[in-house]
Amino acid sequence: MKSLFQKSIVLFLVVITATSCFNKEKPNYQYFPDMYEPVSYETYGEYDIFENGQEAKLPVEGTIPRGWHPYGYENSNEGYAQAKAQLTNPIPYSEKNLAVGQQLYTIYCAVCHGDQGNGKGILVEREKILGVPSYDDAGRAITEGSAYHVMYYGLNSMGSYASQTTIKERWQIDHYVMKLKGTLTGAPERTFESDTASVKKNLIPPVNADATILGADANTVLDEESTN
Ligand code: HEC
Repeated sequence: MKSLFQKSIVLFLVVITATSCFNKEKPNYQYFPDMYEPVSYETYGEYDIFENGQEAKLPVEGTIPRGWHPYGYENSNEGYAQAKAQLTNPIPYSEKNLAVGQQLYTIYCAVCHGDQGNGKGILVEREKILGVPSYDDAGRAITEGSAYHVMYYGLNSMGSYASQTTIKERWQIDHYVMKLKGTLTGAPERTFESDTASVKKNLIPPVNADATILGADANTVLDEESTN
């Protein structure tokens, strides 16, 4: 009995000694400290020996991310007018593209534009946003090109969808927007094209007049999971 009491005392003292100097605020004993405090340079650190003090270099001017594809029209009134007049949807008007377009439209656009594209989405009904047009608004005369352009850059209180959607997805939404417009204006239903119909290469906007940026791989470029 006595020895059990003595043992408990000893154990108690050991525990006290072991924990008394422990400070939660400070790092404890480091096992292999070099793993925590590298002797070499830190990634993205700023050191004198590097040019401009920066280890990380900016990409060479003109570099673009893989799969990224420039959009040739400027974010200006002229760019808008050009896209509206010239740009047409390069992907086939297939059932599949339309179905995907409808899904994406429901996710991204319907809150404002409404399921029918009449400008009466839930946010409009709750008066959270004003001035959302109906797609059959005669004054706007929405075209495939103008719809793509505003999805790319946004327009006033409508934001840009360039970072959430790929090029192909925007064109899929575009087909659906034009279908909604057709329904609103009472235009006859457009007949579906085959899903395998090839992408109309030259309809993807060139960066400038003398550069046709897409060659034979137009389909591949559109399928890239790129944004912007
Ligand atoms: C936050 C609400 C909101 C969302 C979401 C939204 N829009 Fe809009 N949209 C607007 C408003 C507001 C305008 C009118 C902008 C103006 O003319 O000032 C507009 C205008 C438009 C126009 C007409 C542009 C023109 O040429 O006059 C089109 C086409 C359009 N939106 C398509 C879309 C598509 C496609 C999506 C989804 C990818 C979308 N919008 C998502 C609010 C929204």
